Amino acid sequence: MKLLVVLFTLFLLCAVHALVIIDSALASSCLYYMKGFNWGCGGTGQSHHMYKCRCANIDWLGSVGNCIATQGTNAGEISHAFAHAALRCKQRGNKDYVGSDIRQWAENATAYLQMPTANDTKVQVYHPLAVNETDFAIYERSFSQINHHVLKTQWFGWGLVFFWAALLAVHTVFNFMWRLFRINIFGATLYQIHQKYLSPKTAFFGLSRWNIVIFSLFTIQTVLVSALSYTVELPNVYIKDPYLLKLDLIGYRTGIISFSLMPLTFIFGIRNNPFCWLTGLPHSEFIIYHKVAAIFMSIEAMIHSAVWTHYAFIAGPYTVWSVDAYWKWGVVGTILAFLILFQSFRFIRTLMYETFLVVHKLFGWLFIVSMWYHCNILGWMGWVYSLIALTAYDRLVRFFKIFVVNRGFTDIIVTVVDEKVLRISIPKPMAYDVAYRPGSHVYLSFFHWPIWYQCFQSHPFTVISSPVVSSKVLTIYVRVKKGTTAKLAKLRTNEKGYLSMWALIDGPYGEGAVSYRETDSVVGIAGGMGVCGILPSLYNAPANSKLYWVINNANDVVVLSRDIDYLISRGMDVKVLLTSVDETDDTLLLVKSHPYISVEGTRPAMADLVADAVEFGKKVSATDLFIVSCGAGSMDTEIGNSISKKVEVGQKMAIHHQLESFTW
Ligand SMILES: Cc1cc2nc3c(=O)[nH]c(=O)nc-3n(C[C@H](O)[C@H](O)[C@H](O)COP(=O)(O)OP(=O)(O)OC[C@H]3O[C@@H](n4cnc5c(N)ncnc54)[C@H](O)[C@@H]3O)c2cc1C
Ligand SMILES: *[C@@H]1O[C@H](CO)[C@@H](O)[C@H](O)[C@H]1NC(C)=O
Ligand SMILES: *[C@@H]1O[C@H](CO)[C@@H](O)[C@H](O)[C@H]1NC(C)=O
Repeated sequence: MKLLVVLFTLFLLCAVHALVIIDSALASSCLYYMKGFNWGCGGTGQSHHMYKCRCANIDWLGSVGNCIATQGTNAGEISHAFAHAALRCKQRGNKDYVGSDIRQWAENATAYLQMPTANDTKVQVYHPLAVNETDFAIYERSFSQINHHVLKTQWFGWGLVFFWAALLAVHTVFNFMWRLFRINIFGATLYQIHQKYLSPKTAFFGLSRWNIVIFSLFTIQTVLVSALSYTVELPNVYIKDPYLLKLDLIGYRTGIISFSLMPLTFIFGIRNNPFCWLTGLPHSEFIIYHKVAAIFMSIEAMIHSAVWTHYAFIAGPYTVWSVDAYWKWGVVGTILAFLILFQSFRFIRTLMYETFLVVHKLFGWLFIVSMWYHCNILGWMGWVYSLIALTAYDRLVRFFKIFVVNRGFTDIIVTVVDEKVLRISIPKPMAYDVAYRPGSHVYLSFFHWPIWYQCFQSHPFTVISSPVVSSKVLTIYVRVKKGTTAKLAKLRTNEKGYLSMWALIDGPYGEGAVSYRETDSVVGIAGGMGVCGILPSLYNAPANSKLYWVINNANDVVVLSRDIDYLISRGMDVKVLLTSVDETDDTLLLVKSHPYISVEGTRPAMADLVADAVEFGKKVSATDLFIVSCGAGSMDTEIGNSISKKVEVGQKMAIHHQLESFTW
């Protein structure tokens, strides 16, 4: 199904179709050649007024038709040019012509044709004009070169799409070979070199070195295709002024490139991104790609807008250009793109995530509307259709997941464990075994009268099918933050400490836990409630596995003690590292009764935990060591970088970092 979507999108993009000048170079050359003569319309311009006059003139119609019929090289090109000329008269001259009308006038005109003379540009012509091949040559060259420029630009745009397609294709092959056959297509050495030297995160926006390499290549490609290969020769009759011509060409180039980045931006951002499944890359990685594509799309759009604004001021008057609807919607689109960029800055997201999300979606939809009206007469609508298709597809799949897979409104039980932790129990959906994998996450929307205004939000949580809890329920452990989770924690519960409410469940998402082999060893390193992202992996892990759980709230252990006992009973080693020391009796008692808790006082260095993990892997002679981490952002980064340091090229034991991120 997911593959179908990809194919469908590609199909839509193939319908990319551009009108105006590049639709038919033949028709444009003839229209421009013929408009130079005096047809009694009082000018040679391109305005609606002019077309109204010319399209009513039988001699002009015959001349243009004859030009098309005699200058065209094949039947297909000629009939397409007839249709184009008729459409021009329809759009600009309000004349209801079709292609065959022009063909008939062309045939009729052959009996009356005369060769143009120098006088015909000054004195009104009362008969159809033939084509002077010598004079016509420049028209033909001009439009075929403009045509070529635009077609080339479209290929450049596709080139940028292929850049990502190639990257994702490699990831997909890698992912499937690994998942199905445990074959690493790059070989152990190359993989280790990548891990050691390319995967560490840098200070540059927290990107990994590998990401920086990829994005630099993409930047270079984008800059090159935007700046190079402007091969239209001068003079060009389409735009006689060389400077304006240059602006026009840049305008087309940047506009089309910006367009080809739109579907990428959208597909990387949607919840049901099919590439997550194909490549096995986490959603958080695609959010980075989403940002990169969006930034380049907006920059190209800005150049496009700036160039055309400049053009309008020079060719002037600006007001004549800006009255057209496509112009106004173009301005709206560019402004929206930048508003979206600015409201996505991290500090705004952390300050008010939900507001960010609502505005982000609204602006995204409005952006599609603006691009629709920007292009509905200019062409390239295939790209706009693809955005609509992607958005609709995402909504449909969500609807399906909520109402079919998870059967719509579900009665859930929320237990307020303490002021920092909630436990949510969900009846296991019937489709669980088919649809879910251990470690999947779902998005919850809560429908509960006292907090009714929260029902529009949907929050991601990892569902746990715990072996120590009834097999009929799924459990979610929630760390109370400042938004919806805080509202839930403040609700009045019954005397047993829980309450029931309705919820919509959108899921499952994520590729879930890896299926391990007996020779593997899994070491989980979790911070706080991040342990929920790791438990599903550990339930299925071989006995030679270990959990490090860093907490600052001693009570967290109580919440999950049965699950931890289960892991220990399976022979796993569990270490809970308590970072806060409060000397209350409860805590002391807890530590005493749970020998796996050690009071650290400070947060342990992740490098030490990783070093321990690697030692552990070696001790149990694992072939593959999986270090699964889930914690706050900086913790995951520290773990990732420590793993890179620990990897030695040529090392026998393969080390993998499996990141279960709770943030993006
Ligand atoms: C894949 C995944 C799995 C998760 N699993 C768990 C889990 O099992 N247990 C758990 O306690 N937490 C989990 N989280 C984190 C949880 O989603 C957030 O803590 C929760 O949404 C915060 O809600 P709030 O309104 O109280 O947050 P606020 O206090 O308003 O915001 C705190 C932070 O939470 C994040 N956040 C808020 N809303 C959303 C949203 N709709 N989508 C994504 N991020 C958001 C933002 O980074 C925000 O800065 C998971 C997150 C992800 C991405
Ligand atoms: C044929 O062309 C001539 C010259 O343009 C024009 O005067 C005449 O009306 C046309 N006849 C028809 C039937 O279109
Ligand atoms: C075509 O135009 C050129 C000048 O542009 C002129 O010299 C030539 O004689 C014309 N040819 C015909 C057949 O009229």
